[in-house]
Amino acid sequence: MTDTLTITRPDDWHLHLRDGKVLTDIVPHTARRFARAIVMPNLKPPVVTVDQAVAYRERILAAVPKDCSFEPLMTLYLTERTSAGDIRQASASGVVQAVKYYPAGATTNSDAGVTDLTRVYPVLEVMAEENLPLLVHGEVVDPQVDVFDREAVFIERVLLPLLQQIPGLRIVFEHITTAEAVTLVRDTPRRLGATITPQHLLMNRNALFKGGISPHHYCLPVLKRESHRKALVEAATSGDPRFFLGTDSAPHARSAKENGCGCAGMYSAHAAIELYAQVFEQAGALDRLEAFASFHGPDFYGLARNSDSITLQRSSWTVPEKLRFGDGELVPLAAGETLTWKLKS
Ligand code: NCD
Ligand code: ZN
Repeated sequence: MTDTLTITRPDDWHLHLRDGKVLTDIVPHTARRFARAIVMPNLKPPVVTVDQAVAYRERILAAVPKDCSFEPLMTLYLTERTSAGDIRQASASGVVQAVKYYPAGATTNSDAGVTDLTRVYPVLEVMAEENLPLLVHGEVVDPQVDVFDREAVFIERVLLPLLQQIPGLRIVFEHITTAEAVTLVRDTPRRLGATITPQHLLMNRNALFKGGISPHHYCLPVLKRESHRKALVEAATSGDPRFFLGTDSAPHARSAKENGCGCAGMYSAHAAIELYAQVFEQAGALDRLEAFASFHGPDFYGLARNSDSITLQRSSWTVPEKLRFGDGELVPLAAGETLTWKLKS
């Protein structure tokens, strides 16, 4: 049995860091584990210009501990007002790596999102020209569609037409949760990649209701049934380069989660690579963790792989019940649970 695992330092290709004074509570968890992270732009107000992205990046860097080197890779939030000029400026900036599409109303802070993707096709054409990837929150918002089917229906109604209409656009199908999404990525040529979160690899939808309703297991896209979880584990551990690590770590204060209208989002940055290691070990695929966590993402984005490494040790530790989050507190994923892999500092 392997007792230490040294891998090329990983990157997180989908992360929410929020803003303001919580940054100093949140950023260190990611910066200790990952070299880079694609930072989501769903702030209030959203990050829609390069200037806003540059300023946000500076605020994140100010929260990185002195002994870490961490590079935030910034994204712009696609709205119906995003212009060709915004895209060209983003592409030339060297700071913005991608543009994020939220269907309006699909998830946390998505009200400025796009109501009908075909309206922004001209801007997506410019992204294709500039080779700037589109990151997609892949769920329809149609209230007629069952919440557990929203990703599969999105593939049919939005993603397949998009792939056909704008063949030059590189797309990341973010936080995939279904066997349908796995199949689509496998059947599409290389310009479609997908991120997979630790929670969708570890849990199925029973976790939402185990022993009473559990708001800390609510995120979007919502957890799915066991057959989908198995398909995701199979994809993540398969070695297929189009699947890569993206935690979707999304902190919300305890008071916003344990609430009559609880927010969507799980926080995993405190133990992200450790949780993925657990999944890969359970699947008998620890030897494939490095490619999923450290190679496939930079290869897809056309960036260099990291040159330093991290080491995980087989050593049990208990995840804290709560973490500091500005003036409030945060209940992390796997709070109070014992994990088997520990990051060597
Ligand atoms: C994210 C958040 O809180 O910003 N929530 C979530 O459930 N994943 C938004 C998102 O990625 O959907
Ligand atoms: Zn997200």
